Amino acid sequence: GAPVRADISKLEPGQRMTVEWRGKPVWVINRTPEMIELTEGLDASRLADPDSDVPQQPGYVTGALRSIKPEIGVIIGICTHLGCSPLFRPEPDAEGVGVDDWPGGFFCPCHGSRFDLAGRVFRNVPAPTNLEVPPYRFENDEIIVVG
Ligand code: FES
Repeated sequence: GAPVRADISKLEPGQRMTVEWRGKPVWVINRTPEMIELTEGLDASRLADPDSDVPQQPGYVTGALRSIKPEIGVIIGICTHLGCSPLFRPEPDAEGVGVDDWPGGFFCPCHGSRFDLAGRVFRNVPAPTNLEVPPYRFENDEIIVVG
């Protein structure tokens, strides 16, 4: 499949948009400073693979945020358990999603897997690995190229 370009100029802080690449949903998240702080400050012992040792991302994205720019996250929106599409839940909600002191992120409604705002999987959920980060680059400040 060809690379796809996404215009992120109207993506407000705290928002998420979805673009399609190779038939897959790719999320682009504009993380606020609070979201960045929350993600970087997560207790690593709560995560199954905090340093992304299982390669689910290109080599040029590193660290807790798994991204080129701290604020812009790019993640394939397919649960690594059985392929459902997790929900964007930047804050725990009243539906019981906030169990175990979960700070919010992405929640898979199929079997309850939880991920942080960088797509890192929490412990004790069915999903075995972090969500995948696709290859991507910035053409300029407004355009992301995925693929
Ligand atoms: Fe997401 Fe099972 S498909 S938890």
